[in-house]
Amino acid sequence: MTLDEIIQARRSIRRYSPQPVEREKILACLEAARLAPSAENVQPWRFLVIDEPELKEKVARAAFSGIYAASRFAAGAPVLVLMMARLDLLANNLGRLVQGTQFYLLDLGIAGEHFVLKAEEQGLGTCWIGWFNLRAVRKVLNIPGKYRLVTMLSVGYAASQPTRPRARKELKDIAWFNRLGD
Ligand SMILES: Cc1cc2nc3c(=O)[nH]c(=O)nc-3n(C[C@H](O)[C@H](O)[C@H](O)COP(=O)(O)O)c2cc1C
Repeated sequence: MTLDEIIQARRSIRRYSPQPVEREKILACLEAARLAPSAENVQPWRFLVIDEPELKEKVARAAFSGIYAASRFAAGAPVLVLMMARLDLLANNLGRLVQGTQFYLLDLGIAGEHFVLKAEEQGLGTCWIGWFNLRAVRKVLNIPGKYRLVTMLSVGYAASQPTRPRARKELKDIAWFNRLGD
């Protein structure tokens, strides 16, 4: 697949086949994430891959209960990848205080999307999950405070592709050359 084909094909997958995901494929995704750029090359990302079925069920129960039930579909994915940040005091505080930008969030976003695109290339479906119970997941996995849990990805073989057309703003409404548009 070309990069353009991968980008065009990727959609958020919310229905998964129970077929297990090969560790080698996850490792290839992690390697793609590892090579992502980051502010000051701090590489703040940390990934915790949950692929043991019993543990995954435990994490899913904690993550997707109550007001987070809308994300329950992710429990059907054979793999959940928790994305955490190990904050670098200098780079992250300078970025936040001087620039007003939380660079670690950008860094995690870039690395996560490297992961997602590599998954797509290997025939895997993914969905970013931002809506889940962070506190309950931290507790169930005993994640220490030095790791900031930010988001997770559900990963697996798609049971079906989304039928809704991709909704996107038009290029003319989001990008301009030389002079800002409206
Ligand atoms: C940071 C982030 C968080 C997201 N959180 C969720 C989520 O909690 N639940 C969900 O169903 N989709 C979530 N999504 C997926 C978006 O809804 C999806 O990318 C968007 O609707 C565009 O659809 P597409 O990915 O199929 O192109 C998230 C996406 C991103 C980038």
